Amino acid sequence: MEKKNYIITLGFIIVLIFFGIWFLTIIQTTPTEEVQPTPTEEIQMEPVAEHAPEPAPEPAPEAAPEPVAEVEPTVEAAPEPTPPVEVKPADFDIVPLEDQDCTKCHPYAVKDINERGGLHQSLGCSECHLEHPPLGKNPIPTCEMCHDPGDATHYNIKNCSACHYPHYPTEMEFGEIDASACLSCHPAQGKEMEAKPSEHAGLNCTECHMVHREWANCADCHTPHAEEMTHADCLACHKPHSPKAVNYADGIPNNYCACCHEDVGNALASSKKAHSEMGCIECHESEHMAVTQCDECHDADLHGASMHERYPLCLDCHNNPHALAE
Ligand code: HEC
Ligand code: HEC
Ligand code: HEC
Ligand code: HEC
Ligand code: HEC
Ligand code: HEC
Ligand code: HEC
Ligand code: HEC
Ligand code: HEC
Ligand code: HEC
Ligand code: HEC
Ligand code: HEC
Repeated sequence: MEKKNYIITLGFIIVLIFFGIWFLTIIQTTPTEEVQPTPTEEIQMEPVAEHAPEPAPEPAPEAAPEPVAEVEPTVEAAPEPTPPVEVKPADFDIVPLEDQDCTKCHPYAVKDINERGGLHQSLGCSECHLEHPPLGKNPIPTCEMCHDPGDATHYNIKNCSACHYPHYPTEMEFGEIDASACLSCHPAQGKEMEAKPSEHAGLNCTECHMVHREWANCADCHTPHAEEMTHADCLACHKPHSPKAVNYADGIPNNYCACCHEDVGNALASSKKAHSEMGCIECHESEHMAVTQCDECHDADLHGASMHERYPLCLDCHNNPHALAE
């Protein structure tokens, strides 16, 4: 009985050893079997898989995510070439990115530059993007690399990207930005606002100029004095950067004054005397509240010198310039 048990145990151990050896062999062969099918399907997976075990554990997670994420477009773009299978980790590091590679992973950036890039179209992607992650830590160029702050006041502004997006640098929609950025090219408007202070000096330039070379209508923020007044009319009396001083040229109709001076407007219009044919601005010329004297149009000695000496003011007798009385 004991001998029978001994034989059974021995047999069992032998079988165990046999299975052990067989199992070990399997473990050793599995990886090689799995590596080979992968490259044929997903070309760039290979460097990742081989990258991982070799260097220290840290770079592995960094190297892994990006190429994996980008694999799909690449595979679609270039399914034929089998040569990449031979790419070794060492080659992977030294194969530089060419400009024609960018489109595979960043199609929109390429499209933007091609269609809207302006003078930046003359540049290759890698003239600006000198590095690429994860190998390069600074993929984004500074503007001053090429636009030397010493060359223009404009290149000294801090936040270039508040106005320009480099892939379409001339298409600008201004957000909240410092007036100094505009003043770097338009110093005159800043000086005007400083010299003739008004409530507008407290506004940001971009509240009226959202898009370069365009401006808001006055009526977007104000109620016109008279219903029929247009934006161009406003500018006939007000300067946008110093609106407090009211100056005007010829061509202001009487109702644009009479909307605020109703009594005078009515008096002049209903008068039967010759002045009622006149424009307000003939006697209130160029500047709000200016008054043209009677003797600039009439002879000062009209009624004889001795009479004018006794009554020096024409209005002593003629009463009211708008509704002349005898
Ligand atoms: C195989 C796909 C692939 C190719 C080819 C490729 N890139 Fe990238 N690129 C990526 C991925 C993925 C990222 C994101 C990496 C990250 O965030 O760490 C990236 C990031 C960048 C960034 C940084 C974006 C940021 O917000 O920091 C720039 C710039 C860039 N790529 C430019 C280029 C240029 C220029 C080329 C051509 C010379 C190019 N890429 C080619 C996949 C690619
Ligand atoms: C004049 C320099 C310049 C050129 C040329 C240029 N870029 Fe850029 N690119 C930049 C700058 C600067 C940024 C960062 C923009 C930001 O975030 O405000 C950027 C951002 C990117 C980004 C990050 C994502 C994004 O769209 O903001 C990618 C990707 C990119 N560029 C790819 C390209 C590719 C591809 C080309 C070639 C077709 C190219 N760039 C040409 C300067 C340039
Ligand atoms: C690699 C060099 C380079 C870099 C970096 C660069 N630029 Fe330029 N940029 C140019 C060149 C070259 C021109 C052509 C005109 C010139 O010579 O000034 C230009 C022109 C421009 C123009 C005029 C475009 C047109 O179509 O009229 C703008 C705006 C501009 N750049 C803004 C920027 C801004 C903002 C940045 C940073 C985000 C930047 N650039 C970064 C080289 C560069
Ligand atoms: C306040 C918005 C704003 C900011 C901020 C800004 N720009 Fe501009 N930039 C403009 C405008 C507006 C133009 C004129 C475009 C035109 O003439 O149609 C311009 C034109 C340019 C031009 C082409 C004309 C020229 O003078 O060479 C370049 C280059 C340029 N900017 C570079 C820069 C750089 C570099 C920065 C950051 C240092 C910057 N810009 C910051 C608004 C801005
Ligand atoms: C890089 C220089 C530059 C910057 C920065 C700049 N401009 Fe200009 N701007 C110009 C040029 C050049 C013109 C065209 C001038 C002309 O046609 O006489 C112009 C024209 C204008 C015009 C129209 C002028 C007209 O008579 O039609 C307005 C309004 C204007 N800019 C406002 C702004 C505002 C607001 C900012 C800031 C957000 C700004 N600009 C920033 C260069 C610049
Ligand atoms: C209250 C609105 C308003 C504000 C704020 C404003 N502008 Fe203007 N700006 C205008 C209007 C309206 C015009 C058009 C004038 C015309 O057609 O005669 C104009 C014209 C301009 C012009 C063209 C030349 C000229 O003087 O007519 C420039 C340049 C300009 N603005 C720059 C600026 C700058 C820079 C700032 C900020 C410092 C600024 N503007 C603030 C309304 C404004
Ligand atoms: C973005 C809004 C905005 C636009 C556009 C605008 N204004 Fe104003 N304006 C203001 C504000 C805000 C004030 C100060 C409060 C008030 O008087 O309503 C002001 C004040 C004024 C004043 C009184 C100035 C003072 O210092 O007492 C005049 C005059 C004026 N605006 C005329 C105009 C004219 C003319 C235009 C068109 C060229 C215009 N505004 C366009 C916002 C605007
Ligand atoms: C005929 C000249 C004239 C025209 C046209 C004109 N204004 Fe005036 N505006 C004035 C005068 C004069 C004042 C100053 C009144 C005062 O001293 O209180 C004034 C004052 C203002 C004020 C300061 C607040 C107020 O109501 O007293 C604003 C805002 C204003 N105007 C906006 C406009 C706008 C917007 C337009 C175009 C729709 C416009 N103005 C057209 C002459 C004019
Ligand atoms: C927005 C309303 C407004 C408009 C438009 C306006 N005025 Fe006036 N005007 C006033 C106000 C308010 C005063 C009083 C100001 C004061 O006494 O400080 C005044 C004062 C005057 C005075 C001086 C009165 C005095 O006692 O010395 C004259 C003259 C005058 N306006 C003429 C005109 C003429 C001419 C126009 C058209 C070109 C005009 N006004 C358009 C509001 C306006
Ligand atoms: C023939 C010249 C003449 C014409 C035309 C004229 N004015 Fe006058 N206006 C004067 C004179 C002169 C004074 C000064 C009166 C004084 O000093 O008592 C005056 C004073 C005023 C005053 C301030 C005193 C008051 O009566 O309220 C206002 C406002 C005024 N004018 C508005 C107008 C308006 C509005 C018009 C057009 C509808 C107009 N004027 C047309 C000559 C004229
Ligand atoms: C801008 C020029 C101008 C000014 C200033 C002016 N007038 Fe006249 N006036 C005229 C004209 C034009 C007539 C009509 C033709 C004529 O009689 O010479 C006229 C006519 C008159 C008449 C005759 C009216 C009639 O119906 O027969 C009187 C009176 C008169 N003016 C008084 C004055 C007095 C007083 C002042 C100063 C308060 C004055 N004028 C300022 C241009 C002016
Ligand atoms: C003492 C009162 C008085 C004074 C002062 C006076 N006038 Fe007269 N004016 C008259 C009378 C009266 C008439 C005649 C009325 C008529 O014929 O209907 C007249 C008529 C006029 C006429 C129209 C008749 C013509 O001869 O063309 C004008 C113009 C005139 N005056 C302008 C003036 C001027 C300008 C002044 C100031 C330099 C002035 N007057 C000062 C009383 C006066």
